[in-house]
Amino acid sequence: MNKKKLDYTLFKRLLMYAKPYKKVFVFAAFCVLLLSFLSPLRPYLIGKMVDNYIVNTQNKELLLHWSIGIIGLLFIEGILQFVSSYFSNLLAQSVIRDIRKKLFSHVVSFRMKYFDKTPIGALVTRVVSDLEAITQVFSSGIMEMSRDLISLLVVLSLMFYTNWELSLMTLIPIPLLIFATRIFARAMKSAFQLERKQVTKLNTFVQEHLTGMSIVQLFNKNKEEYSKFVEINNGHRKAHINAVWANSIFFPVVEILSSLSIAFLLVWGALNAGGKTNVEIQAMYGQIIAFTLWIYQLYRPIRQLADKFNVLQRGIVRAERIFEIMDRNDHRQESGKNERVDFRKDISFDKVSFSYTENTDVLKQINLKIDTGKMIAIVGATGSGKSTIVNVLGRFYEHQSGTIKIGEVDIKEIKLAHLRDNIAIVLQDIFLFSDTIHNNITLGDERISREEVIKASKAVGAHDFITQLPNGYDYSIGERGSVLSVGQRQLLAFIRAYVYDPQILILDEATSSVDTESEMLIQEATINLTKGRTSVVIAHRLSTIQKADQIVVMDKGEILEIGTHNELLLKNGKYKTLYEKQIFKPA
Ligand SMILES: Nc1ncnc2c1ncn2[C@@H]1O[C@H](COP(=O)(O)OP(=O)(O)OP(=O)(O)O)[C@@H](O)[C@H]1O
Ligand SMILES: [Mg+2]
Repeated sequence: MNKKKLDYTLFKRLLMYAKPYKKVFVFAAFCVLLLSFLSPLRPYLIGKMVDNYIVNTQNKELLLHWSIGIIGLLFIEGILQFVSSYFSNLLAQSVIRDIRKKLFSHVVSFRMKYFDKTPIGALVTRVVSDLEAITQVFSSGIMEMSRDLISLLVVLSLMFYTNWELSLMTLIPIPLLIFATRIFARAMKSAFQLERKQVTKLNTFVQEHLTGMSIVQLFNKNKEEYSKFVEINNGHRKAHINAVWANSIFFPVVEILSSLSIAFLLVWGALNAGGKTNVEIQAMYGQIIAFTLWIYQLYRPIRQLADKFNVLQRGIVRAERIFEIMDRNDHRQESGKNERVDFRKDISFDKVSFSYTENTDVLKQINLKIDTGKMIAIVGATGSGKSTIVNVLGRFYEHQSGTIKIGEVDIKEIKLAHLRDNIAIVLQDIFLFSDTIHNNITLGDERISREEVIKASKAVGAHDFITQLPNGYDYSIGERGSVLSVGQRQLLAFIRAYVYDPQILILDEATSSVDTESEMLIQEATINLTKGRTSVVIAHRLSTIQKADQIVVMDKGEILEIGTHNELLLKNGKYKTLYEKQIFKPA
């Protein structure tokens, strides 16, 4: 693949996002166009002013007028510069906001399966920093590059129009500049790549070690980890210095080359001055001044064009990665249409099989009936597929064969939002956002009032501990709720489920142990939560199991036994073994 080529289809697709901001785009482009003509015009006018009112006529009044005019022009240029940069950035940021919104809502609609395979870090990079690179396509890419290119043409035309001989003289060092720019661009590219790699390394290390801090301290690994950190940190410094080095050598080279152009200009002046009268020599003043200014206007864009082209290209490559995700429709979870389902009906599993990855069935031909309003407990060894039942019932994963029905309706036909509104699920791993307690309970749903939250937390038995926190319900919990105990986090999840007042409740009990007091609270909360609704509880506590209307015993993806506690004990089967091995936490 030729890397220097731009992918125009991608480019066009990206431009489509600017369509709603056509006015901003046109306005910014207009300012850019104006600027690329005005800036090269200024040296021309200065040259003319010098010729007409200093060298030839010495008309002080007109000279003053012209000076004021040129200062005015400079002023207008300044304003245009500001306006064009403001609007091109406004355009870029608006476009990025739109793409980011679209991307995010697209990604969150993906099946859980997608997230099993895609590292979260990679997605964060897509949604945050890849998009940042696309901003530059619009600001420094399209706008600034057009300005550079147009003004380059205008400067060259004006130069040749004024004096072609002189133009050729001053252009002598340009091939050298182009050559230097190419070398520099290559050096910079590899320096930047190295820099990026090192930054990622450093980020990953710091993030992982802060997250896993307790492990590092627990195993007393501080010293070893510190020396690893020192090494990575050194690499990071080296990569940055590398980039700076390439940068610091390039700019003096450009300075020297532009001075060389000016030197050629003076050489031309000296060569031409031979055998001429003073008046004739004076006639060259205006041109020399104009050319000196043009030389600077010529060097800047040439120096920057290569760089900007890289930025543009990089932005488009990033855009490709983003469009790739946006085009992924096979990962989207298809949603049913039925929005009027009576959830106060029995739930039935009929020969339901499911596998996360091909050819390993985690659920094998599950048949199960859960009567409305009743509570069933699912028990079984770790890895037997209990949480997987929750995953398919909540449609986080789609089962491959068999049917799950609520009453007479296949859950695949139910609109996903409708299903999730009526089934509340308390997961085994409780996730809390770094936000207030209140918002963690309502999950940002403003229809849920503080009164309802308080009522729910009283019902669950969490009101007391919450009011004891510094700001009560407005207490902001740290990342992932790390300041709360395991039991307290569990209670928060219970309140979440309670305020939604679902018809069906699924509770995947946490396996981790909590203190006796929290244990009591959780037991009570479980009773309150399951009261009067169809509930499926994946149980690890004997107290919960004993209260269940039915106990389902699972093993390696199959249902072995179904019955009440006493029935199952009498059966002398798997349940009895589990019970005797004391895998359930005592009541
Ligand atoms: N996202 C996933 N991708 C692939 N395999 C998975 C995934 N989640 C679970 N599994 C596998 O499916 C099997 C059943 O897991 P499941 O989480 O249902 O067990 P469980 O009965 O809930 O266990 P525990 O009591 O430890 O919570 C396990 O072998 C597990 O490794
Ligand atoms: Mg589980």
